Amino acid sequence: MDKLFLLSFLGLLLVAHGVAGNMVFDNIDLLEELENLDIEEEYEAETSPIPSWTSERGSKVLVNVDSFGAVGDGVSDDTQAFVEAWAIACKTPQSVFLVPLGGRYLVNATKFNGPCSDKLVIQIEGTIIAPDEPKKWDPKSPRTWLDFSKLNGVLFQGGGVIDGSGSKWWAASCKKNKSNPCKGAPTALTIDSSSAIKVKGLTIQNAQQMHFIIARSDSVRVSGVQVSAPGDSPNTDGIHITESTNVVLENCKIGTGDDCVSIVNASSAIKMKTIYCGPGHGISIGSLGKDNSTGIVTKVVLDTAFLKETTNGLRIKTWQGGSGYVRGVRYQNVRMQDVENPIIIDQFYCDSPSACQNQTSAVNISQIFYKNVSGTTRSAKAMKFACSDTVPCSKIVLSNVDLEMKDGTVETYCNSATGFGYGIVHPSAECLSSDDKEYIIINKEEKAEVTETSREKIVHTEL
Ligand SMILES: *[C@@H]1O[C@H](CO)[C@@H](O)[C@H](O)[C@H]1NC(C)=O
Ligand SMILES: *[C@@H]1O[C@H](CO)[C@@H](O)[C@H](O)[C@H]1NC(C)=O
Ligand SMILES: *[C@@H]1O[C@H](CO)[C@@H](O)[C@H](O)[C@H]1NC(C)=O
Ligand SMILES: *[C@@H]1O[C@H](CO)[C@@H](O)[C@H](O)[C@H]1NC(C)=O
Ligand SMILES: *[C@@H]1O[C@H](CO)[C@@H](O)[C@H](O)[C@H]1NC(C)=O
Ligand SMILES: *[C@@H]1O[C@H](CO)[C@@H](O)[C@H](O)[C@H]1NC(C)=O
Ligand SMILES: *[C@@H]1O[C@H](CO)[C@@H](O)[C@H](O)[C@H]1NC(C)=O
Repeated sequence: MDKLFLLSFLGLLLVAHGVAGNMVFDNIDLLEELENLDIEEEYEAETSPIPSWTSERGSKVLVNVDSFGAVGDGVSDDTQAFVEAWAIACKTPQSVFLVPLGGRYLVNATKFNGPCSDKLVIQIEGTIIAPDEPKKWDPKSPRTWLDFSKLNGVLFQGGGVIDGSGSKWWAASCKKNKSNPCKGAPTALTIDSSSAIKVKGLTIQNAQQMHFIIARSDSVRVSGVQVSAPGDSPNTDGIHITESTNVVLENCKIGTGDDCVSIVNASSAIKMKTIYCGPGHGISIGSLGKDNSTGIVTKVVLDTAFLKETTNGLRIKTWQGGSGYVRGVRYQNVRMQDVENPIIIDQFYCDSPSACQNQTSAVNISQIFYKNVSGTTRSAKAMKFACSDTVPCSKIVLSNVDLEMKDGTVETYCNSATGFGYGIVHPSAECLSSDDKEYIIINKEEKAEVTETSREKIVHTEL
């Protein structure tokens, strides 16, 4: 609808003025591209549906960790039982690796490696807990707890809980106490180098560091997953996607101490639908470009999200000195409540104890579309586009964005960022219009009635 309107409006402009023709057509192409930006979910149909084991118990081979000596009392070490059960489940076709309901299974850092036989189901109904003492953690797995790799066509489900028992790790973080050394902690659940994976209805909580990493994988669908950790737990990202493609996250509720979702290098075709975030640091692309590295993220769609009391809303963060690009991102139907930085692009991100050097190289950010984003901000700068002078952000499009502050006026900050807005854009994003180019900003009244005077000038200020 908006696009049709814009097209006809631009048509009138062309007739009226016959100017800026190329710019107008470029913008139409761009809009069309961004509107049509969608992530294929076809792989679902391609991979044969994996039935839930409960509906087909008969044809499934049940591999219950209890049969391998797991106790599930929260105290006994059940690691060996899990390792042995995994070995059998992995090599047996149509098997179900079962962590039964009611148990609390204490399990050390463990690698669950594939490849496995066909149609493996990992049925987690009970709770898996990590030993809580960082000093006794297996030094061979400093960054992982439950690490699944090289799997194909596997379903994780069962409504159970994965609990990282992270509180001692958090206290030992340099973010909590500057006299602590800065070192990484384990990720609760990792799915690495895998494909055609589904993760349904699990709860992942109190991770030592990140909750759930999807790495080097293709075709991963995560639905109904909950992540929960205190808002002040350090670096406890909810779902972190790296070097992965065709990932769909839907109906996920994430409350944690860092990004609810973070999407980093070499990731493409990432779709997030119906995401609840808060507390947390928002839904992020990046960080990218740390230590002069290359970061590339393309084709990301977020549709329907609610962010409550987070430090950021929709964020793209890159370090100075990086290279690569973020291109083709669409955020739509997002509602914010008391968010510190609702819309932010930060090419000067710096999360190191010492100040970051100014550098000319940067990760190039372009084609970022914000559509139907509304709610309340805690800071006056409701929108921030802080971009590099040498590698400006370009083609930032805003449509029906309406951000308010309870007591006070809101504004948009721009440095070296270009783009345009149409429909309601509040606060005004006029600062995206550069002097040598003409961009369109149309307000609500004009939408109802395009008058002669409104056609006089191409650049309009909203409201
Ligand atoms: C689990 O970790 C504890 C503490 O380091 C260790 O004593 C125990 O042997 C480990 N269990 C297995 C099965 O390796
Ligand atoms: C930080 O750690 C140091 C050394 O372990 C300790 O003496 C100090 O009390 C800690 N500070 C806080 C605020 O916990
Ligand atoms: C980013 O991904 C590319 C492609 O996979 C890889 O070559 C590069 O090393 C990655 N960069 C970082 C910082 O990991
Ligand atoms: C990144 O590049 C800059 C400029 O070439 C250099 O000064 C800096 O030391 C490099 N940083 C790292 C971490 O390699
Ligand atoms: C705008 O987004 C909100 C929040 O997700 C949603 O409830 C509403 O239906 C959307 N409006 C339109 C016109 O799509
Ligand atoms: C980097 O540049 C900014 C803006 O020009 C300036 O305020 C800041 O002091 C510089 N930082 C360093 C470490 O040189
Ligand atoms: C950044 O990317 C845009 C879009 O692809 C391109 O037009 C622009 O030249 C790039 N900027 C730099 C400094 O490479």
